[in-house]
Amino acid sequence: MRLRDKVAIVTGAGSGYGAGIAIRFAAEGARVVVVDLKAEDARKTVATIQADGGSARACVADVSDSDAVLESVEDAVSQFGGIDIVVNNAGISHPTKSALKITDAEFDNVFAVNTKPILLYARHAVPHMRSAGTGGALVTVASTGAVRPRPGMAVYNASKAAAVTMSKTLSLELARHQIRVNTICPVAGETPMLDKYMGGDPEENRKALRATIPLGRLAQPEDIAGTALYLASDDGAFITGITIEVDGGRCV
Ligand SMILES: NC(=O)c1ccc[n+]([C@@H]2O[C@H](COP(=O)([O-])OP(=O)(O)OC[C@H]3O[C@@H](n4cnc5c(N)ncnc54)[C@H](O)[C@@H]3O)[C@@H](O)[C@H]2O)c1
Repeated sequence: MRLRDKVAIVTGAGSGYGAGIAIRFAAEGARVVVVDLKAEDARKTVATIQADGGSARACVADVSDSDAVLESVEDAVSQFGGIDIVVNNAGISHPTKSALKITDAEFDNVFAVNTKPILLYARHAVPHMRSAGTGGALVTVASTGAVRPRPGMAVYNASKAAAVTMSKTLSLELARHQIRVNTICPVAGETPMLDKYMGGDPEENRKALRATIPLGRLAQPEDIAGTALYLASDDGAFITGITIEVDGGRCV
């Protein structure tokens, strides 16, 4: 068990990649706080973990809200005894369209959910990690759009590029406390997000996307979970500040 005795917060863990990460972390021995806006979905992930004998609790929070983030951190500390790992995974997009048609509200919402929580979780979780003196790991789930942007997603791509740079900067500021900060850039995956924002025919979208991925398939939550586990566990003990593409070769 690679996360025995660790406490992890995983945001956006009611669905998709976040649910996959939470389930994998719990299977590796972590006690997991499943944070999501949607209470029902968070509870579903917790039920899956508990059915497998793992330990988890649901926490309903909007990760763009500083007070809600603080509450989720305090929940982890009071109920599970500390905080070792935060995976900033919750994310949203705007509908695929020309940058010229993206509204101010879409810009503000996308940055509020995709970028700001990295700062908020650092602000609220790092003091606990520092006072425990045992280091920690922050993992950001960004996107291949951060490093190889494609048209139609200008603000989403920019919010993820900002997430990468925020995470790299934090890795430098927090290294002296043995707190590591790393970023995963997934390619399009088999999650509810894909159909929500792309428009058009879902099967046609998948076919077109698969054709751009050398390994010939979309990402699965397990692909992202395996990389998050590597970065959050002692297997990644000497890794900080990196950005790793989990994309079947898409960015080559
Ligand atoms: N699926 C893809 O194609 C893809 C590709 C690259 C990167 N990503 C990134 O991976 C991450 C996970 O995406 P996914 O595909 O699993 O999406 P998803 O829509 O399946 O899950 C996202 C979860 O985040 C939650 N959430 C949204 N806003 C929130 C908020 N303000 N506070 C708390 N929770 C909130 C949602 O309720 C949902 O459960 C996102 O950051 C996304 O940008 C996804």
